[in-house]
Amino acid sequence: MRRTPLVAGLAAVGLVIAACAGDASTSSPAPPPSGASTSTVSEATSSVAVSRSDTADSESTLSTDTDLSASTTGSPSETAATTSSPAVPGGAGGKVGVYTWWAAGLEKDGLDALLALFRAEYPNDRFVSLAVNGGDTQPQLEIDLKHDNPPDSFQWHAGAELSDYIKNGQIQPVDDVIAELGGSAVFPQGLLDRLTVDGHIYSVPANIHRVNMVWANPKVITSAGLDPAVIPGDMEAWIADLAKIKASGVDTPLTVGGTWTQVQLLENVLLADLGADKYTGLFDGSTDWAGTDVTAAVADFATLLTFTDTDAADGDDWPASIDAVADGTAAYNVMGDWAVAEFNSKKKVDGTDYTYFPTPGTDGVFDFLADSFTLPVRAKNQAGAKDWLTLIGSAEGQKAFNLAKGSIPARSDTAASDYPAYQQTAIASWQNDVIVPSIAHGSAVNLAWGSDIGAAVSEFHASGDATALQSELAAAAKKNAD
Ligand code: BGC
Repeated sequence: MRRTPLVAGLAAVGLVIAACAGDASTSSPAPPPSGASTSTVSEATSSVAVSRSDTADSESTLSTDTDLSASTTGSPSETAATTSSPAVPGGAGGKVGVYTWWAAGLEKDGLDALLALFRAEYPNDRFVSLAVNGGDTQPQLEIDLKHDNPPDSFQWHAGAELSDYIKNGQIQPVDDVIAELGGSAVFPQGLLDRLTVDGHIYSVPANIHRVNMVWANPKVITSAGLDPAVIPGDMEAWIADLAKIKASGVDTPLTVGGTWTQVQLLENVLLADLGADKYTGLFDGSTDWAGTDVTAAVADFATLLTFTDTDAADGDDWPASIDAVADGTAAYNVMGDWAVAEFNSKKKVDGTDYTYFPTPGTDGVFDFLADSFTLPVRAKNQAGAKDWLTLIGSAEGQKAFNLAKGSIPARSDTAASDYPAYQQTAIASWQNDVIVPSIAHGSAVNLAWGSDIGAAVSEFHASGDATALQSELAAAAKKNAD
């Protein structure tokens, strides 16, 4: 998971790009500062898998290991023209350096499923994983972009969070890749519309995740005298259940992790209390962040946090929160549906060991994010990057990846029966529900806005001041909305 919104850094990147724009063909980019890279680099070819991807302790220098700091000259088209065509079919050839935050654990399993296919279908290409220790790709990506040393592709959330890179001229359209994949014949038109900015699509979606899901331990709920088959209909009913579970002796009925998971919880409460239309209006100015319905949602969010282990929360990533539900020390966690892979990895049985339902008050709504991959301007191996993007968007790539990841394909030509029970429900919801964008996962707000929301939620975690939280949320909207 990448989670370090560096808004100031981004602004600086924009300035550097603007400064370089007229002179790209003559300037050699400065190398990344010595010692700045903590990237973990792994390379894999069709025949050899050279892995230096021990994400825990490897400290390799991106530039040395991958040649990505080699002088970049020329415009994108000039760069593309210098990529020589391989003599044999099977990809453009050369290294394809890709930033991804799927650096470890189950998320890396999903990436590995893709890589097996990439090696088979593009044997001329050599995938170079620029996964960074802990999966927090953003700081190193910012450094590389700032020094005009872009990767061939980088992973990012599709939607508003990409807008800074588009505005700064750092990524280029991938309309041709989408068209070759089949365009609206294979991707839902509604999704393509959401990905389109000024008539262009800037990333290829690998998947769709649902963010408004509660994961529950039915045994803990039963022990509290509640029927786990009865799903609370709204926040009020859920809070009443949480109180009963706490009264039964469960210290932490609900788990939460570090700041981004708290933002994710807040967005679920906003969606539940405001409904899909008003929630969506928070991002286009038609819903007032200072309004009384947001006040009520913030109060519910504050109440939910009283059922969590807030002392331990800050700094935790998501798996510990799900593990507590899987292990029976907690009843519930609100988490995107990558959680299902964690239950599976612990050999927990769907319906017996764990259950799931849309966050109370959000039934019929699908709060979505799409992981996607970009084509940076001045990427050195643009043809190789397009091989990667083509694999990401292909039917077989999406199936291999999403079966491992817990998400569902972004493509519409999907047989739901190929997927396990949870993903079948998600596929049906994606086709039938009202779709809304996620705050915590970049579909709804740009980087600066997301960063300000994160700061407000983090301060609230320390202060407990709900009035201050709402006014900071309102100020963040005023400052950052387009
Ligand atoms: C990403 C997912 C990832 C999750 C947890 C989300 O922002 O889009 O790919 O599994 O965070 O790290």
